[in-house]
Amino acid sequence: MHVVVTGGAGFIGSNFVHLTRATRPDVRVTVLDKLTYAGSLASLDGVLEDARGDSMVEFVQGDICDAGLVDSLVSGADVVVHFAAESHNDNSLADPRPFLDTNVIGTYTLLEAVRRHGVRYHHISTDEVYGDLELDDPNRFTEATPYNPSSPYSSTKGASDLLVRAWVRSFGVAATISNCSNNYGPRQHVEKFIPRQITNLIDGVRPKLYGDGLNVRDWIHVDDHNSAVWTIIERGQIGATYLIGADGEESNRSVIEAILAGFGQPVDAFDHVTDRAGHDRRYAIDASRLRSELGWSPVYTDFADGLAATIEWYRNNEGWWRPMKQDVENKYALTQQVLE
Ligand code: NAD
Ligand code: DAU
Repeated sequence: MHVVVTGGAGFIGSNFVHLTRATRPDVRVTVLDKLTYAGSLASLDGVLEDARGDSMVEFVQGDICDAGLVDSLVSGADVVVHFAAESHNDNSLADPRPFLDTNVIGTYTLLEAVRRHGVRYHHISTDEVYGDLELDDPNRFTEATPYNPSSPYSSTKGASDLLVRAWVRSFGVAATISNCSNNYGPRQHVEKFIPRQITNLIDGVRPKLYGDGLNVRDWIHVDDHNSAVWTIIERGQIGATYLIGADGEESNRSVIEAILAGFGQPVDAFDHVTDRAGHDRRYAIDASRLRSELGWSPVYTDFADGLAATIEWYRNNEGWWRPMKQDVENKYALTQQVLE
């Protein structure tokens, strides 16, 4: 099998490539990645070449909006797994345009290519397309929840999902979609919540909590997300959407407290900073369909253990994250003040 992985130098895509090498050695992988600020070739260390200098993983630097390049890569593939995106809500509030280009036009470009060549397509999306829930809402998101995105990021992801559904219905494209909750684990960019706080603490800087910090995210380890993606590729029903989640709801405040405890610091040694505009209150996934129809279940069921391993990864891999850290904090300093 030959799989084209878009965004394979980013957080979830690179972990997908590592997992694929470890669990499906016969699968040939071509990564297509633009290497934006969020992509790093270092995230593919250890898979681009094996000990003999051979490799089952090829890397192509390029843009998913480049129709000629996309067509030539897709024409030789059995499956396209589409991770590439502009992925950060805060960036989408500062400058939405790249989100429209990559998330909407990029997805359109891939869909046209898989349509022309009759290639199986899996679309990676987010629970943020459903908007947010109240803290005390007994319901969670399901495949039937109406779309109600809040940010430029989530609205462009919602638009991309709708394009996929239309290409399935009108053109018979063999596609599946997954909408996953918040991922954590190794190789996540330091602009994101958990790595930002871990690397702040390594640098002796206090963690930064947006607003009152009672916002809830539903955490899943990146390897569990990617094992679910393989399950859907191998056994999913064409045209179907599957929600991916691992029952990992935590308030942001409790996550910061757990990270501080991991560094042996007082649990209140953090700063409240300016809240995010339009900040979604709570996400929560009901993954019953994926579990019952396809028999998937997560391996990382203890968030504290997964978080401890993630802290350890950042402690041991400073060379990976150090080059990105200062730019991220300079950018945040333009919009975020510490609140008294
Ligand atoms: P990321 O920002 O870490 O990585 C994105 C990758 O895409 C980078 O390597 C970047 O260089 C590449 N890229 C961006 N624009 C491109 C373009 N025009 N052409 C080619 N490559 C391009 O993102 P992530 O957190 O790994 O997210 C991957 C996917 O998973 C996204 O589609 C995101 O919406 C989705 N998702 C993320 C989460 C999460 O918690 N991070 C949860 C659910 C879904
Ligand atoms: O739910 C899935 C989504 O999860 C993905 O679609 C997105 O690509 C991914 O970035 C993530 O979106 P969030 O906005 O939830 O993640 P982020 O890491 O930016 O923030 C998580 C929570 O932490 C959110 O409530 C904002 C808050 N936060 C974030 C940062 C960076 C802080 O309190 N302090 C911070 O410094």
